[in-house]
Amino acid sequence: MLRLKDTKSKFAFSYGYLLNKMYPYIRMVLGRTLLLFVLAVPLGLLDGVVAFSLRPYLDYVVNGNPSQTFELAGHTLKLQEFWIKLIPLGIVTFALVQGVLKYICNYLTDWTGNKMANSLKVDLFKKLTSMDTKFFDVNSSGLVLSRFLTDPEQASKSLINTLKSLILSVFEFFALVFVLLFNSWKLALIGITVMGIAITPVVLVRKKIKSVSNATMVVSGDMTTNFNETFAGNKIVTAYNLQENQNHKYENQIHTQFNLAMSLTKRVGWMSPIMYFVCSIGIAIVMMYGNSLIVSGEMSAGSFASFVTSLLLLYKPTKTLGNTLTSLQSTFVAMARTFELFDLMPEIKNKPQAKLLNGVGSGISFEHVNFEYEENQPVLKDFNLNVKPNETIALVGNSGGGKSTVVNLIPRFYDVKSGSIKINGIDIRDYDIVSLRNNISFVFQDNYLFTGSIRENIIMGKPDAGKDEISEAIRLSHLDEFLDTLPDGIDTVVGERGASLSGGQRQRVAIARALIKNSPIVILDEATSALDNESEAIVQKALDNLMQNRTVFVIAHRLSTIHNADRIAVLNEGELVELGSHDELIKIPNGKYKYLYDMQFSGSTV
Ligand SMILES: Nc1ncnc2c1ncn2[C@@H]1O[C@H](COP(=O)(O)OP(=O)(O)O)[C@@H](O)[C@H]1O
Ligand SMILES: [Mg+2]
Repeated sequence: MLRLKDTKSKFAFSYGYLLNKMYPYIRMVLGRTLLLFVLAVPLGLLDGVVAFSLRPYLDYVVNGNPSQTFELAGHTLKLQEFWIKLIPLGIVTFALVQGVLKYICNYLTDWTGNKMANSLKVDLFKKLTSMDTKFFDVNSSGLVLSRFLTDPEQASKSLINTLKSLILSVFEFFALVFVLLFNSWKLALIGITVMGIAITPVVLVRKKIKSVSNATMVVSGDMTTNFNETFAGNKIVTAYNLQENQNHKYENQIHTQFNLAMSLTKRVGWMSPIMYFVCSIGIAIVMMYGNSLIVSGEMSAGSFASFVTSLLLLYKPTKTLGNTLTSLQSTFVAMARTFELFDLMPEIKNKPQAKLLNGVGSGISFEHVNFEYEENQPVLKDFNLNVKPNETIALVGNSGGGKSTVVNLIPRFYDVKSGSIKINGIDIRDYDIVSLRNNISFVFQDNYLFTGSIRENIIMGKPDAGKDEISEAIRLSHLDEFLDTLPDGIDTVVGERGASLSGGQRQRVAIARALIKNSPIVILDEATSALDNESEAIVQKALDNLMQNRTVFVIAHRLSTIHNADRIAVLNEGELVELGSHDELIKIPNGKYKYLYDMQFSGSTV
């Protein structure tokens, strides 16, 4: 099973592979993306226009001859006057065109980037909900969250953004180079050579940047996990005075992040000054040589001004091109990390032509079941048990003996390592998973309530439940009196995880949920263990109703529950050591059940 912490993003350099994976998402926004890329071309060319128009401005307006004329469409016009009128008009038109283009490009960039990110996130969410329990055992929710939130966003938004600025910069670059060449190819040669020298270090350090940025991502993942743990586990942190601890951990992480950031700055920070220095040498040479060209009359002053302006403007697209390549690489890293998640395959899935399960006809049997969570650490060892329809089986044994594990195997939270679990004589792995789980209701020690009303939490068990069904479930789960005390009754909204309800109330909502689901198999894993005596009594009444006429597995610490079970299975370190009714087991001299009974239950009342 993949541990997200150890991912290597091995596909980060397989560009073809990644683009192929990304293609379905690109295709959804292809039209607008292409429009964006097409519009980026004129936007890129605009800088060249500014540099280009300096030449007629200087030559014809500033240094112009008022009596010089030229022919346009059969009319004779004065050259200086023409340009004096044209240039203000040109400036306004230019600003208008630039503004409109920029707006449209920004709009399209955001639209396509967000659309793509959203589709990726929806699909990734589906992928994650399809993963089995084991995946979430080995990967903390914080890590899953940070991977989910950052990578798909970067993979799509910065892909669009980077490609857009790549196109923009390329055209900006070529437009400016064109202006250079147009004004003087000799000077242009000098200028471009110098620019080439200045840009070389950018290409050289790119590889180093990548390794640092990978390390930075890992640290930020750790920081998110730490953050989530600190605040999700707020009560534990407070109770054990772990604040100091958590603060310290966070400080360390932020320190590592700082060092990484600074090492990047150290590696990259010297580039820009050096580039400026090399460029200044270039400009100095251009100036010297340019002066001689002007003096000899080979070049006009306007042409020279236009040239120098282009050369200065050229710095920006050149630098952007360098950066674009780096961010394109980060984008590919994000893509690799995203598709790594898509490549996850749940280990527990339907077989082709899976059968539908409809009730417990002939019982549930565990046959030579072996199971382990971690390799070579057996948790269940050759476990055998036959449960008859509508029988109540109590599982008892030391903590860590494997009771929860036994019941977790029935809805296939995990699959057995060897042996099999059969319902009606058919291996549960041959049933359709949804239909298998539809036949099972679970009540845990701590039941998860979702943010929403109590009604919503109850009908989760059967979304199309009618009014009568709901009130019956409420009555049988002994929730009615409590709901009557609430101003909004069943429509009262419970906080995150049902925080606004007491433990006993939460359990009864969970029982109502199970009652309305009305499934033939019921599993109760320490459903009353976290409760005080008073709430335990009422929750137990609700449980008794739930257990009626169903096949029940019950793990409980309460003697009466165990006493009333048809049979008791005693587990010790993953092995079934005794099986029988209370009366049978209590008679076994030196028996495990008798021992547990004397230890645990002797004080309680039946
Ligand atoms: N998700 C898990 N990953 C790894 N080991 C687990 C996991 N759940 C339980 N175990 C281990 O399996 C053994 C049996 O646990 P469990 O079935 O929960 O016992 P019980 O419910 O009887 O107290 C224990 O040693 C426990 O540490
Ligand atoms: Mg347990």
